[in-house]
Amino acid sequence: MKKTVLITGASSGFGLLLANSLHKQGFDVIGTSREPEKYAGKVPFKLLRLDISDDKSISAFADELFRNIKQLDVLVNNAGYMVTGLAEETPVELGRQQFETNFWGTVKVTNALLPRLRAQKRGQIITVSSIVGLIGPPNLSYYTASKHAVQGYFKSLRFELDQFNIQVSMVEPVWFKTNLAHNAVSQSNGRIADYDAYRKQANAATQKGIDGAEAPDAVVNTITKLIATKKPKFSNPVGKMTGMILFLQNYAPKIFEGSILKSVKTV
Ligand SMILES: NC(=O)c1ccc[n+]([C@@H]2O[C@H](COP(=O)([O-])OP(=O)(O)OC[C@H]3O[C@@H](n4cnc5c(N)ncnc54)[C@H](OP(=O)(O)O)[C@@H]3O)[C@@H](O)[C@H]2O)c1
Repeated sequence: MKKTVLITGASSGFGLLLANSLHKQGFDVIGTSREPEKYAGKVPFKLLRLDISDDKSISAFADELFRNIKQLDVLVNNAGYMVTGLAEETPVELGRQQFETNFWGTVKVTNALLPRLRAQKRGQIITVSSIVGLIGPPNLSYYTASKHAVQGYFKSLRFELDQFNIQVSMVEPVWFKTNLAHNAVSQSNGRIADYDAYRKQANAATQKGIDGAEAPDAVVNTITKLIATKKPKFSNPVGKMTGMILFLQNYAPKIFEGSILKSVKTV
């Protein structure tokens, strides 16, 4: 039987690429966007309206989804965005909004769909976190915190869902070419002169990461393999340097921290 896969944030980036690829392979794909009308007739899969930061939108979406499907095999929690900037200069409100989408939105969408997955006694939840859910680079404190939160939430939840035969996995990409950087949000409370030199270097380091981004196919391939695996791994870092980054963080923390400090050196 065809698997039904729901992908949040399927209008752009990883979500769009994954939805197109799974549709081509014969899966029943349902994607979401905050503005599905913008993509009407432009994507080959069904696109439902969903703003994961809005409770009413989640509840209307869940009703519509269950009118459209008989079973749900895979939920891919992919929707998200990135707040950038130095922590002390960034308004806390911007951080709160980051959590409303990346953390609370992901949790609430999962909660809205879990009763169906439990009733089926099978299913799969794949959440697109980030390598910054495992490490903490500067200039991305709120984004990093939101991805650590999501990582911790599912790390715990997976044990509770094992009894229902619901598999839980995380995908932790490094930098990949999508619209994430273009859609990033940055706002300042007011510049603090003490950070002037550091800010310049930190922005340059973030930009270097964005400029060196890889083609997003590796992320799509990783998620596709997870869908095909009976007992998938929980943590799935993706990207050329992830093995080295995580090895250094875990086994040579001084070298790891030194390399991050060096990447934003001001003198
Ligand atoms: N690209 C990278 O280097 C990278 C690395 C690590 C992790 N990630 C993660 O990958 C995921 C996908 O991002 P991307 O890189 O593909 O970026 P993208 O091209 O900007 O796509 C983001 C998607 O999320 C949706 N979205 C954003 N806010 C939403 C909200 N409040 N409610 C519902 N949908 C929302 C957007 O849909 P609409 O605007 O149509 O609603 C869009 O489809 C994110 O969770 C991101 O944090 C990306």
